[in-house]
Amino acid sequence: MASSLLILNLIFSSFLAPISAVAGLANYLHKGSSLSAKHASDALQSTDGTFSFGFYNLSSTAFTLSIWFTNSADKTIAWSANQDRPVHRDGSKVMLNKDGSMVLTDYDGTVVWQINSSAEAVHAELMDSGNLVIKDQGRSILWQSFDHPTNTLLPMQPVTATAKLVSTDLSHPTSYYTLRFDDRYVLSLAYDGPDIFNLYWPNPDQSSWTNYRISYNRSRSGALDKLGKFMASDNTTFYASDWGLEIKRRLTLDYDGNLRLYSLNESDGSWYNSWMAFSQPCEIHGLCGWNGICAYTPRIGCSCPPGYVVSDPSDWSRGCKPVFNLTCSNDGQKMSFVRIPQTDFWGFDLNYVMSTSLHSCRAMCLASCSCVAFVYKVYPNGCFLKSDLFNGKTVPGYLGAAYIKVPQSYLSRSRAHASELSNRHVCNASKSQTFNYATQSNKEMGTMWYYYYCFLAAFFLVELCFIAFGWWFMAKTHSARSAVWAAEEGYRVVTDHFRRFTYKELRRATRNFKYELGRGRYGSVYKGILDDNRIVAIKKLKDVKQGEAEFQTEVSVIGSIYHMNLVRVMGVCSEGSHRLLVYEYVENGSLAMFLFGSKGLLQWQQRYKIAVGVAKGLAYLHHECMDWIIHCDVKPENILLDQDFEPKISDFGFAKLLQRNQTDPNMSKIRGTRGYIAPEWVSSVPVTEKVDVYSYGVVLLELVMGLRVSELPANASADEGAALRQLVWTVTEKIKTGDQPWIDGVVDPRLNGNFVLSEVLLVLEIAVLCLEKVRNQRPNMNHVLQKFLSYE
Ligand SMILES: *[C@@H]1O[C@H](CO)[C@@H](O)[C@H](O)[C@H]1NC(C)=O
Ligand SMILES: *[C@@H]1O[C@H](CO)[C@@H](O)[C@H](O)[C@H]1NC(C)=O
Ligand SMILES: *[C@@H]1O[C@H](CO)[C@@H](O)[C@H](O)[C@H]1NC(C)=O
Ligand SMILES: *[C@@H]1O[C@H](CO)[C@@H](O)[C@H](O)[C@H]1NC(C)=O
Ligand SMILES: *[C@@H]1O[C@H](CO)[C@@H](O)[C@H](O)[C@H]1NC(C)=O
Ligand SMILES: *[C@@H]1O[C@H](CO)[C@@H](O)[C@H](O)[C@H]1NC(C)=O
Ligand SMILES: *[C@@H]1O[C@H](CO)[C@@H](O)[C@H](O)[C@H]1NC(C)=O
Repeated sequence: MASSLLILNLIFSSFLAPISAVAGLANYLHKGSSLSAKHASDALQSTDGTFSFGFYNLSSTAFTLSIWFTNSADKTIAWSANQDRPVHRDGSKVMLNKDGSMVLTDYDGTVVWQINSSAEAVHAELMDSGNLVIKDQGRSILWQSFDHPTNTLLPMQPVTATAKLVSTDLSHPTSYYTLRFDDRYVLSLAYDGPDIFNLYWPNPDQSSWTNYRISYNRSRSGALDKLGKFMASDNTTFYASDWGLEIKRRLTLDYDGNLRLYSLNESDGSWYNSWMAFSQPCEIHGLCGWNGICAYTPRIGCSCPPGYVVSDPSDWSRGCKPVFNLTCSNDGQKMSFVRIPQTDFWGFDLNYVMSTSLHSCRAMCLASCSCVAFVYKVYPNGCFLKSDLFNGKTVPGYLGAAYIKVPQSYLSRSRAHASELSNRHVCNASKSQTFNYATQSNKEMGTMWYYYYCFLAAFFLVELCFIAFGWWFMAKTHSARSAVWAAEEGYRVVTDHFRRFTYKELRRATRNFKYELGRGRYGSVYKGILDDNRIVAIKKLKDVKQGEAEFQTEVSVIGSIYHMNLVRVMGVCSEGSHRLLVYEYVENGSLAMFLFGSKGLLQWQQRYKIAVGVAKGLAYLHHECMDWIIHCDVKPENILLDQDFEPKISDFGFAKLLQRNQTDPNMSKIRGTRGYIAPEWVSSVPVTEKVDVYSYGVVLLELVMGLRVSELPANASADEGAALRQLVWTVTEKIKTGDQPWIDGVVDPRLNGNFVLSEVLLVLEIAVLCLEKVRNQRPNMNHVLQKFLSYE
């Protein structure tokens, strides 16, 4: 009998439990009643089931009073009363008192959070919108959670003058980002750290005007509507990528300072991103803390400049600290600078000087005690002395570099431990790629200094490729060796990059000059295989009058220039009358063979990539190398394509190489190739880098039209180049008048209309600028590059 009662009891309770659980999920809480943390069923649920309100378990014993998405897989929290102070499971409760106050107490009765009310409440209700409201007798709202957002805004929940978002969440209690209206009433994202305050969205370098914001609208309010459009009184407007559908969304200020709009996938409860403020997260301030540098590797990560170590490896936002003491120069401490290419630090400018040389910028920083580094921008030219380093970022394509001040004594010490400088850390503390920040000491000033920097910049760029190559190479030859060893070998290969070869070696590599790849004005090119199995192209020069030593010095400078879009010189041979250069082998041969030969058809996207790549290579030659190298013979024959059709410019540095000791003043006239040479070459003015810009313009036209513009048929009576001038004039007119059919017609017919008109227009526009007859009116290559980049 007793046992059957027990069984009955069991059956009953197993039926009753779910029933009571369902019954517990009302959407309101009457005055005088409470919810306790102990029973999971003690929760409110909105009538449509979207949101729940109650105790949310962080662990089996710690709870927060929260509103969460019932149907999201991880029960995402939309609002929380006490995320910084969780309560215990046993004995904690939240109670709606008769006087209208709502009080959250911990197990021992401590009040953790409370709402103070001015009137008597009737009940608290969880609305379908996710808003928890406390209403009085007359059904008016005494308090609502929508007025007190945490890190998330729900649709229809306003951000106002007083309601701001703060990025902290349960797992990231120290995060300093906020979304709020600033003092000009512009909705902004700010880094609001313990010792620094920075606005970083919208773009702080632009006026609110250029950011399309309206300042000083006193309404100060913004909200996401049900269809996924966000609007604010300052004209902040954005749309969810899935705009228009009634999807459950949330706008969350994540702990990494990025504002993201998420949409719920109802089928599996996951969230997907439907908008975010930053697609380039290194623009967010404070990510890597003091002295830290944010970079894409390509995963976003933080690193410390040379001479600095991470303060707290588990939290990169705490930045890096120097391992040396930067004292003033009175004590005789000699200072050096370490260059970090393509890197900028935002803010903290002691001084800003426009149009100055790297040299004087450096001298200014040396002279100032409080200058810890400087940023030298090539374009637009400027020198920024920094008193502190914050918001550091390495951005590919940034036309400038940061130079960190470090004591020379430190540098010489650390050279012994190169790895200390080369370990690149990443936010999540997993060690990833390594690369060297090249260093530069104080003594080696003068001309070599420029070359040196040039080399260092490039060194940084290609080193990764080389390490990869080293790995591959080692893996191939010694597949059994450990990865660490392979990496070390990679370094060895890197440092061993430029070599002198003997003539015998090269003759062997080319099987006695058997496979000729091509023949140019300077000599023939042969394919060769070095002893270490690397495939190379070997150029046998003719008519070089320089002496051996002089030639080698000159070439080793060319050999030290590395850029993705420049063909690398790997070595040189200069013996007796033999002058040979060893180049990397570029798989796909020259652009000319594709454009005018029968090697295959280049699609528009490939052509566009080539246009941009060549601009990058030339900009590097002209500007990063301090105006040192003018190519003088830019043409499709000298643009090689690798297996991914990334262009690489070859034969740079030749003009200089062959010009040395030139007694013939007409030399400049015979360099360059007919059809590509700028008009000023015919006159006797000195050649500047603008001649390359002109030739580049011709190449652009050829990329678009797919034919040799330089060989356009001209009237018998007209002078050379008249046809090209006529073409440029027509293109200019047609772009101006927007004659699309004409433009369509001028594009290479082999493309069958498969091109992007806006890109074609851009390329043509740049081409006609480059083909300006007056050279001062031509843009320089940095301007050209800038045009491409800003279009992207
Ligand atoms: C929270 O409770 C649920 C069930 O109520 C359980 O599955 C989950 O593991 C708990 N979470 C933690 C962190 O204890
Ligand atoms: C209510 O009042 C108490 C004491 O005056 C204060 O500490 C608390 O922050 C107030 N609560 C709210 C939600 O305003
Ligand atoms: C408001 O923003 C839109 C685009 O977001 C822009 O086109 C418009 O010019 C802006 N209005 C003002 C007054 O800035
Ligand atoms: C300010 O913003 C509100 C709300 O968006 C808008 O209705 C109002 O026209 C704006 N006022 C001005 C002066 O732009
Ligand atoms: C939602 O999730 C399902 C299952 O994982 C997936 O097949 C579907 O593509 C997702 N929908 C969206 C819009 O992401
Ligand atoms: C820097 O100076 C502090 C105090 O003057 C000293 O304790 C510390 O050892 C110095 N650090 C180095 C690397 O010289
Ligand atoms: C760290 O990086 C690894 C490698 O990409 C990744 O799989 C992992 O999810 C990352 N961890 C965190 C916490 O971001």
